[in-house]
Amino acid sequence: MKKQSKFIIAGTATAASLLLVGCTTLPSSAELDKLTMDVAKASFRDQGIAKTDRLVLDDANRECMVADASGKPIDEKVAKSIEAANMATIKWPAGGYYLGDWKQGERIAQNGRGLTWSDSAGSSNGGNCYNCHQISKEEISYGTLGPSLYNYGKIRGVKNPYAPESAAVVQYTWGKIYNSRAYNACSQMPRAGHKGILNEEQMKHIMALLLDPNSPVNK
Ligand code: HEC
Repeated sequence: MKKQSKFIIAGTATAASLLLVGCTTLPSSAELDKLTMDVAKASFRDQGIAKTDRLVLDDANRECMVADASGKPIDEKVAKSIEAANMATIKWPAGGYYLGDWKQGERIAQNGRGLTWSDSAGSSNGGNCYNCHQISKEEISYGTLGPSLYNYGKIRGVKNPYAPESAAVVQYTWGKIYNSRAYNACSQMPRAGHKGILNEEQMKHIMALLLDPNSPVNK
């Protein structure tokens, strides 16, 4: 409640200053961005592991937001450099072992818990995959922001994930889950590895869910 009233006060102050500015000249887009950021900053506070540094936009956030607002796709050169920088962050699994246990992967994909102020630092998080993807047929509740991942490995012809012909698909899948921006500068998919949402072992279980021929995803 307290938080909400603070937000309204900040919002009113912003509206008033906009009105004043309006008498003379219109605020520039940079001024509006600053005002918006001030309102956001005034509306949140650090609590536990959830810090207000989550509001800080990085270069890709900024570039993608500007492109989105203009209704045009992001500049191709800028996109390529964002993707290359993100590609360089990917940590590949030791020894080339990419797959864990699909049953544990299903539990991680189902679990959307973690990273809130009441969680302790270093506690394990869920992958939240069903929030945006269909995955196994058994789960009928899922979001559709991302494409369906049902039959993910089967559609891509992965019969044996460790066969040389599967390498490209397996590596792409790991990289995409680790840092989705490496392949799509403005991806809306959380960067599970890069942001420390999932650890290497959890990522392997998720990989098995998508790529193990025995996983219900590929039946
Ligand atoms: C907030 C929504 C969101 C969440 C949560 C999410 N994804 Fe995604 N995912 C997307 C979107 C959107 C795309 C397609 C656009 C893109 O390339 O980023 C995508 C693409 C993918 C792809 C590439 C598919 C292809 O055919 O190339 C894979 C694999 C994938 N997601 C796996 C996962 C896994 C595994 C999880 C859980 C750890 C997950 N996603 C969580 C939104 C999400």
